[in-house]
Amino acid sequence: MQFGVAPKARLMPRSKPRKEAMIGSVLNRESTADLLTSLFREKFRTKVHICFAPGRVNLIGEHTDYNDGFVMPAAIGFYTWVAAGRRQDRELRAYSGLYDEKVTLSLDELSGPPRRHWSDFFRGVAATLQEAGHNLAGANLVIHGEVPVGAGLSSSASLEVALALALTRLSGLALSRLELVKLCQRAEHEYVGTRCGIMDQFVASFGAAGHALMLDCRSLEYQLLPVPEDLRLVVCNSMVRHELASGEYNLRRHDCETGIKLLHAHLPEMRALRDIEIQDLERYKHVLPEQVYHRCRHVVTENRRVLKAASALETKDAALFGQLMYQSHASLRDDYEVSCKELDLLVELASHEAGVYGARMTGGGFGGCTVNLVRAECAALFQAHIAQTYRKETGIAPAVYICEAAQGAEAWPHQGSTPV
Ligand code: GLA
Repeated sequence: MQFGVAPKARLMPRSKPRKEAMIGSVLNRESTADLLTSLFREKFRTKVHICFAPGRVNLIGEHTDYNDGFVMPAAIGFYTWVAAGRRQDRELRAYSGLYDEKVTLSLDELSGPPRRHWSDFFRGVAATLQEAGHNLAGANLVIHGEVPVGAGLSSSASLEVALALALTRLSGLALSRLELVKLCQRAEHEYVGTRCGIMDQFVASFGAAGHALMLDCRSLEYQLLPVPEDLRLVVCNSMVRHELASGEYNLRRHDCETGIKLLHAHLPEMRALRDIEIQDLERYKHVLPEQVYHRCRHVVTENRRVLKAASALETKDAALFGQLMYQSHASLRDDYEVSCKELDLLVELASHEAGVYGARMTGGGFGGCTVNLVRAECAALFQAHIAQTYRKETGIAPAVYICEAAQGAEAWPHQGSTPV
């Protein structure tokens, strides 16, 4: 992966500028793991387990996961790293480099509603694991995040999955990856307050280098589809963050639930929006409030686009895949209303660039990033040019990352001289 702009996450407090500066610019995982190990030992002087989980970009299939539908994300090479060492008591002590803050929690007092603090993630993951009957050991944790926060690249899920992996390994627990994914999703619902689908945690765990992951969110069956080597996934960060995103997200989900309830009276076989065709929706349009109809239309058409996009990827038809991306963006903008003017602009600008097959907003929306399917040899020029034109139009300097699909979560195989 090449970084257009180095991620800003800091690992150490301001009093340790040298190592801090080094880790911010480290581009390979070996060095990051070594530095994290030595920093952990400076703080805690115990054996260390290191786990990491990636952020993701969603190629197509937005707001379909919580409607039992299809999604096609890929993991990207920005990781959240967790270094964890076992404690003899029942405490969890975590230090976040990003927030330069330490938090101590007791494993016996983790319950409670979201506090709107980064510690909700590790409180939630630990609480959810324990509620599911997995007894955790006390732990010291150092968290280092490379995934840009608030950019729609799923820094939350990467943190949850890395934490869950670290805490369970440390406690000698053997959970299946799927159980871990589901528990992380539950932690986000109950302790963070976003009723997310399963896409982000799933790809953070099951993503594979060089592949997009086509997931059926009902059966949880998935297929790894190779991304042709002559294509790049270029991610443009609009640098716009929407503070109301999780409230709006839950509202969209509520609209879909209203749609299902009203349609169900006429289509009793239907369990989710996944189960209906556009003709069914048009036929019963009159039973739906206007806004609910538009939300449903997005989901129904988006599911069809994902299936077509999967075939396009299999036949290496980048032009068709790109057209489906543009259609997806228009539907998210007009029917689902989760785009914003900066994302629309980025898509519009991309459509005029050489070597671009398609572009769309990616992730929950209301700011964050676009994903662009670009011919490899045009990617660098595209990166420079779109940054320039977006800045000219908005006064905002975007971050543009040229990505390749990356590996999902893993435990680092060795920690220097102290294997665990
Ligand atoms: C967020 C959620 C996902 C998914 C996307 C929209 O990233 O965490 O579950 O719903 O939004 O596709």
